Amino acid sequence: MDTDQNPGAEHKKTDPPSSASAYLDPNYWNQRFSNEEHYEWFKDYSHFRHLIQAHIKHNCSVLELGCGNSQLCEELYKDGITEITCIDLSSVAVERMKERLLSKGNKEIKVLEADMLDLPFHSECFDVVIEKGTMDVLFVDSGDPWNPQPATVSKVMAMLEGVHRVLKPDGIFISITFGQPHFRRPFFHNPKFTWSVEWSTFGDGFHYFFYILRKGRRSLNGGESTKKIEMPSICLYQEELEGEDYIFRTNID
Ligand SMILES: C[S@@+](CC[C@H](N)C(=O)[O-])C[C@H]1O[C@@H](n2cnc3c(N)ncnc32)[C@H](O)[C@@H]1O
Repeated sequence: MDTDQNPGAEHKKTDPPSSASAYLDPNYWNQRFSNEEHYEWFKDYSHFRHLIQAHIKHNCSVLELGCGNSQLCEELYKDGITEITCIDLSSVAVERMKERLLSKGNKEIKVLEADMLDLPFHSECFDVVIEKGTMDVLFVDSGDPWNPQPATVSKVMAMLEGVHRVLKPDGIFISITFGQPHFRRPFFHNPKFTWSVEWSTFGDGFHYFFYILRKGRRSLNGGESTKKIEMPSICLYQEELEGEDYIFRTNID
């Protein structure tokens, strides 16, 4: 699932693993993070900052899932969001992130080794949960994306149930991903969740998805909307247009 969006010498490209299922193995990440200073999955903050700023207030408490060695937490902090907790399953990612933050004098961002499938937090304690490319890891061995394996479904549901639980009653979950709406919808719209679902796209050439799920705001028909439509490439949306053109009809209104 590596997509090289890291041009420039600062971002050394790491060779992808021999099998995609390695992305589910903490040893793969430990080894990778031992050798890699910084790799920004998909796109860096500058590409979706406008979308974040529309939704996150300065005094929000934010939980970032699977921070890796991304600069997202530092960028949020620079933008005035100071109550941030990052987690990652990789002990190396956590140690190196702590060192990096301390070396820059940042003692406020908390970094913990934790599994997003079993979040070690009280219920209703974050205003915002955010992830970039972390939920995608759970899909790497999903088999047919239209009909994912039961093991994938249970991991994704464990993650989403945890996120829903730790969000405050009016909290929001932001998911930044290449996962297209037709693959995310069955999970996000599960009746267990009270959130509404909206999404936007960003990026040029290849488009990424910025989903925003608002707890307690599920509409009666369980529908979703795109607040801001940036026309995607025809190829990426061909099935969407053929099979579910209501997305475009309802949201252009
Ligand atoms: C694709 S990378 C994304 C890293 C970072 N969010 C970014 O945007 O550059 C996935 C990250 O999720 C972490 N991860 C994988 N499974 C996890 C889990 N169950 N709980 C927490 N973190 C996990 C990996 O260690 C890795 O840092």
